[in-house]
Amino acid sequence: MNEVLQRVRSESAEDVSRQGEAHGPKVALDADAVKAAYRRWAGVYDTVFGGISAFGRKRAVAAVNRLPGSRVLEVGVGTGLALPHYTAAKRVTGIDLSGDMLARARERVRRDHLTNVDALLEMDAEDTRFADNSFDIAVAMFVASVVPHPRRLLTELKRVVKPDGYILFVNHFLTPHGVRGAIERGMARASHSLGWHPDFAMEALLPPEDIARARIEPVPPAGLFTLVTLRQEDLSAAQEKVA
Ligand SMILES: C[S@@+](CC[C@H](N)C(=O)[O-])C[C@H]1O[C@@H](n2cnc3c(N)ncnc32)[C@H](O)[C@@H]1O
Repeated sequence: MNEVLQRVRSESAEDVSRQGEAHGPKVALDADAVKAAYRRWAGVYDTVFGGISAFGRKRAVAAVNRLPGSRVLEVGVGTGLALPHYTAAKRVTGIDLSGDMLARARERVRRDHLTNVDALLEMDAEDTRFADNSFDIAVAMFVASVVPHPRRLLTELKRVVKPDGYILFVNHFLTPHGVRGAIERGMARASHSLGWHPDFAMEALLPPEDIARARIEPVPPAGLFTLVTLRQEDLSAAQEKVA
């Protein structure tokens, strides 16, 4: 019986990830490639990526801080660069695939005495061990273009966030046209060593009905990143209409 349930679960997970694949990046990373990439990046991540991504990270955490509810899941917490920006009222659980990145985050929590960080766990964000409706808010900063199956990530976050909760993403998304889009497609060849996809389209993460109901805001520098906020209640209403 368990085997049957397991198979049904993994088959439906495959369906979900296939739905986004048509829009997916040309070079896909699997979990081992993600771990290997971030093993290399862990020591220099803050210096190389910390600066350019700081504004997007601060904007996303400020948005989380304004939302109701205290239980926050930070997905792909990395070296924990965002952790000091949460207000004390938010209780944060961080998860990441990379033990090397998490080691840096744990060090930051100790060094900065971050008492509102409840746990930092090595866990796959596409298939967590959390019960349904465990969190008020889930936030994924610069993670959606790194996970092997972005649609599975979205499905999992919808499961673990309460029906009146929120899901936020801040990410770089592919510019469909123009010079910037051409550069992003060119950079995609380096996806494996970069550990992320420069040619990652929003449609690879979100189905059209979610894009339609999302709050989508460009974030500096130069709108390079985008903050996406999804309200679970809007999703439920959309799903009821379809049913
Ligand atoms: C670009 S870093 C972003 C780190 C952090 N959010 C930040 O703002 O600096 C992407 C992180 O996502 C993690 N990651 C990738 N796939 C994951 C998955 N399936 N589950 C959990 N973490 C994952 C990587 O290990 C890495 O630490």
